[in-house]
Amino acid sequence: MAGTFITFEGIDGSGKSTQLRLLANFLRSEGGEVLVTREPGGTSVGLRLRAALLDALEQVDPLTELLVFAADRAQHVRRVLRPALEAGQTVLSDRYADATKAYQGAGRGFSAELVSEIVQLATEGLTPDLTLLFDLSVTESSARTRRRSEGKQTGDRLDSEDAGFHTRVREAYLSLAAREPERFRVVTTNGSVDETHERVKKIVVPFLEARGQIVSREPATAGSRDTHRVPQRESPAGLEEPP
Ligand SMILES: Nc1ncnc2c1ncn2[C@@H]1O[C@H](COP(=O)(O)OP(=O)(O)OP(=O)(O)O)[C@@H](O)[C@H]1O
Ligand SMILES: [Mg+2]
Repeated sequence: MAGTFITFEGIDGSGKSTQLRLLANFLRSEGGEVLVTREPGGTSVGLRLRAALLDALEQVDPLTELLVFAADRAQHVRRVLRPALEAGQTVLSDRYADATKAYQGAGRGFSAELVSEIVQLATEGLTPDLTLLFDLSVTESSARTRRRSEGKQTGDRLDSEDAGFHTRVREAYLSLAAREPERFRVVTTNGSVDETHERVKKIVVPFLEARGQIVSREPATAGSRDTHRVPQRESPAGLEEPP
């Protein structure tokens, strides 16, 4: 496919959304055609599924959770990701299929075989070109999530799982990364936001340059910053806000 698909993974509070925003701004400032999206909630139907999935007051059965994430992903792949990649864009997604392997697989306990089958069904085999795994201790990431939600009513349903759950998810992510070292880069996020951003740039810029996707040193024109002009695809909804 013509574009490049980069996913941002890691446990809650590990810094995915912060770093995605910074990278998107940087790539756009370099003239890159960047689409920012996320899971769940990268389409308009996905936003409705996201609201149900993350509602802290909702009792979502684990099997329902697995299937609704898959439904969200199927819509996202067909309506947003493939068309954008076919149009040559650099797509940055805040979570994708590895999150299901880590959360519904290791976190909830569904077998790796079942999760893989469902992921394959939803994605039709669309695999990221590069996956950044943001890694931080469960203690530190929970502290960051708590600080972020200070003053708000509640965290989301998955945030509120216990430390054992988040530890299983973190370990599962690290073992996915060890199994596919070509696709994954692990980024430790215990430093400052800026330090982490520099690390991310050191990985992504050469990666995109090697694929001929950036980096024009020319100032971006107004038109080249418009990421919403890919023909025949659903406009991603509400994607520039932190999840
Ligand atoms: N390097 C950092 N140092 C200190 N605080 C950070 C750092 N990176 C992010 N934060 C803060 O930690 C909180 C969590 O970061 P962020 O929202 O980017 O994580 P996330 O991985 O997207 O979490 P979630 O999975 O819950 O969406 C935010 O309040 C953010 O401002
Ligand atoms: Mg986030």
